[in-house]
Amino acid sequence: MHFQLTEEHEMIREAARDFAHAELLPGVIERDNEQKFPTDAVRKMGELGFLGMMTSTEYNGGGMDTISYVLAMEEISKIDASASVIMSVNNSLVCWGLDKFGNESQKQKYLSRLATGEMIGAFCLSEPEAGSDATSQRTTAIDMGDHYLLNGTKNWITNGNSASVYLVIAQTDVSKGHRGINCLIVEKDMEGFVVGKKEDKLGIRGSDTHSLMFTDVKVPKENRIGEDGFGFKFAMKTLSGGRIGIAAQALGIASGALEFATKYATERKTFGKSISEHQAIAFKLADMATKVEAARLLVLKSAWLKDQGLPFDKESAMAKLYASDVAMEATVEAVQIHGGYGFVKEYHVERLMRDAKITQIYEGTSEIQRIVISRAILDEYASQ
Ligand code: CAA
Repeated sequence: MHFQLTEEHEMIREAARDFAHAELLPGVIERDNEQKFPTDAVRKMGELGFLGMMTSTEYNGGGMDTISYVLAMEEISKIDASASVIMSVNNSLVCWGLDKFGNESQKQKYLSRLATGEMIGAFCLSEPEAGSDATSQRTTAIDMGDHYLLNGTKNWITNGNSASVYLVIAQTDVSKGHRGINCLIVEKDMEGFVVGKKEDKLGIRGSDTHSLMFTDVKVPKENRIGEDGFGFKFAMKTLSGGRIGIAAQALGIASGALEFATKYATERKTFGKSISEHQAIAFKLADMATKVEAARLLVLKSAWLKDQGLPFDKESAMAKLYASDVAMEATVEAVQIHGGYGFVKEYHVERLMRDAKITQIYEGTSEIQRIVISRAILDEYASQ
């Protein structure tokens, strides 16, 4: 076992860090205030290959491993978690799902444009009454022979308006439970599809989160991903990988808070010395750094397992559970270290604190991660 990143990994990390500082840091406070989508930055992310990092090169992706992806996610999340959730959904939930389970014509038509950012994707599972309980889909996709008739509402959809391709999970045959669910590729301009209200959020305010309404939308049969009834498993498998991306986002928020707090603590003087020389602050930094490093190891391990083709459901849930808690803790401490300055927008850490909260909620709440982890360890025990 060795913990050394390759030269290529280091280069990717540096490129993401440079990009975040050059393109995302300017304007991040304004975008947060005004809930403004980072349109130019997202276009550049596409040009630089950050939107389809793990996608096969034959579909215009970067053909990179998951470790490269989490390194980039961490750096971008340190500065702008709104940009990183746009990136994460496009990479992990949409591109990865299509690359892994889509057919050739779906990949040619959609994936090759999603991987470059020419199109942005959204993943549509949550509903007003189906969040954690993902099998309780009310959105229906009725089989009409050559097409499905899609009806229903989706809630809290990241990239809700900025996307042009939507992976929509819907119930085709309620009598079959989770085996009656399908995932359909829906285009924004399909008749009967309306983007609903934009949510006014606590954090990740630069990303656009919307409800979506489908009324008798005719979705061609060729837009179904996988076999009939594969939709729930598609969602679970895709989310399992997606959780690595959100864990990396949480890690980035936490390590960003640590970087801002360390810089501030060395610059700010009280009682004749920099506050980093006061043990009360130095110990906070030590605790934050230790937890950030532990979260990083969990994130990298789950990414590595995925890259090896080994099971990673338990580890990605662990990484997300732990990293999101660390994101909350580290950002609260960063605000505390900044004192009054931490409470104002200019110093960035209050935004990181608000952004951190969603990492304990989306792509499965912390409680869902505990369900996934506990089921896995109990299964392991039972099979011994
Ligand atoms: N991989 C493959 N198959 C899986 C799986 C996985 N990771 N997890 C479950 N399955 C399969 C099971 O094997 C089972 O299939 P069989 O019956 O054939 O064996 C089937 O799926 C049903 O599994 P469960 O009985 O375990 O399902 P459940 O109803 O008990 O739910 C759950 C399990 C883990 C709680 C699940 O509902 C879940 O993950 N919920 C959270 C949903 C979620 O994360 N939502 C986030 C929305 S997306 C988002 O937030 C994106 C964004 O905007 C950033």
